[in-house]
Amino acid sequence: MDTKLFYDQVDPAAILDRACYAVVGNPIGHSKSPWIHQRFAEQAAQEMYYGRMQPSVEQFNTNAQAFFQQGGHGLNVTVPFKLEACAFATQLTARAQLAGAVNTLWQEAGQIFGDNTDGLGLVSDLDAQGIELKGMKILILGAGGAARGVIGPLLAEGPATVMIANRSLGKAEQLVTLFAELAQSKGVAMIANSIEQLATQASSGTAHQFDLIINATAASLEAISPLSDQAAAQLFQPRTFAYDLVYGKLTPFMQQALKHGSRVSDGLGMLVEQAAAAFLIWRGGALSSAINPRLVLTELRHALA
Ligand code: ATR
Repeated sequence: MDTKLFYDQVDPAAILDRACYAVVGNPIGHSKSPWIHQRFAEQAAQEMYYGRMQPSVEQFNTNAQAFFQQGGHGLNVTVPFKLEACAFATQLTARAQLAGAVNTLWQEAGQIFGDNTDGLGLVSDLDAQGIELKGMKILILGAGGAARGVIGPLLAEGPATVMIANRSLGKAEQLVTLFAELAQSKGVAMIANSIEQLATQASSGTAHQFDLIINATAASLEAISPLSDQAAAQLFQPRTFAYDLVYGKLTPFMQQALKHGSRVSDGLGMLVEQAAAAFLIWRGGALSSAINPRLVLTELRHALA
């Protein structure tokens, strides 16, 4: 393996005879994935190397190709390459097809497989936090790639309703159309809305009541909430669980929810759980009892504090 493919300086001896993995993104310096996978490897006694790659947008395909041609086992893919990874894979799992994005690649029988474990990661984290999705009324804020990546696995759990509310209604409607067949097969009512309409409905008291509100917009990255304070006051109840896909900080969305007595969560658990799902795809499902994602999450939270 050409160690120049990696973002960090790597001693060739460190990867010799080891199954080789990496996370690829740009920027990649902040990524927690090497730390998380190293902990899983220790827990499951796996001899593997997990590095970081930071190609330019033009270099993604050639670098990923070189990695696999030189015997690399698997890649995790993060911003901004999840769509490129989807096109790069020669075989997609059903959930990756629906998500339209890939966060996990691996090589098998001459093919490059692509999967998306983000939605599974969210569902696993909610489950670990005691959230039973069956029969729930769910509101997803946002209709970009992050929302699209989690809708399939959420629908599979059989909630009662899933409303997608977006700043621009058209994109929410497109997602509802895309997932209509899956929603129908699971008996889930899917509704598109605009965030603005949602706010008006909320202030007039005609808003739906939601058990789970997921912030899948990019608003937290701009340090704002997608909801007005007025809408938040109507939507967040003590029985509501508010989940922000962003991790590592108390976002304005979470602060609004806390103010109204809702339980909140950031997306750090989802990050660890999507990594666990990728680890098990690569190293074999039999290791599921050997790894402990909740312990890794606790350790990671401690390390970040
Ligand atoms: P990602 O892959 O992170 O989802 P994206 O595909 O660019 O990124 O989508 C960003 C999402 O955040 C979109 O739903 C966007 O709304 P629009 O489709 O109307 O652009 C939403 N978004 C970004 N900033 C927002 C803000 N300040 N308030 C509300 N929604 C916002």
